[in-house]
Amino acid sequence: MSAARDEVEAALVAAARSARKRAYAPYSGFRVGAAVRAAGDVYAGCNIENASYGLTVCAERVAVAGAVGDGARRIEAVAVASGTTPPTPPCGMCLQTLAEFAGPELPIVLVGARGARVETTLGALLPSAFGKRFL
Ligand code: THU
Repeated sequence: MSAARDEVEAALVAAARSARKRAYAPYSGFRVGAAVRAAGDVYAGCNIENASYGLTVCAERVAVAGAVGDGARRIEAVAVASGTTPPTPPCGMCLQTLAEFAGPELPIVLVGARGARVETTLGALLPSAFGKRFL
């Protein structure tokens, strides 16, 4: 990986870790932070739980909502920060949300506890995604 790409990725991971500190997870205690890059900008999010449990929003979808709400339509890279080993991947709903704004080559970096780190792609985590091409 190039030095420039390393730097961009380090910034994304730092934003995801920082967002994780803002997680609102009083019910599960499971704190997640995410960051997406779109048009060169970084948008971060944390999981937001609710006393009506089903209303919980994952960190990834909060980050995507920030980017898309700001006008972005293409997600370029994603970082997810959790406290697990191996690091937590996005859930199926978040993968489908990412697939709306990125292709299978989308780089996804997962960081967890004690330096645990996985570099993957949307296509690896969600092969054969449903999308607008079927509509
Ligand atoms: N969660 C996320 O925010 N992202 C993930 O990738 C997996 C799960 C949240 C949802 C809920 O607040 C808590 O983690 C436990 O499921």
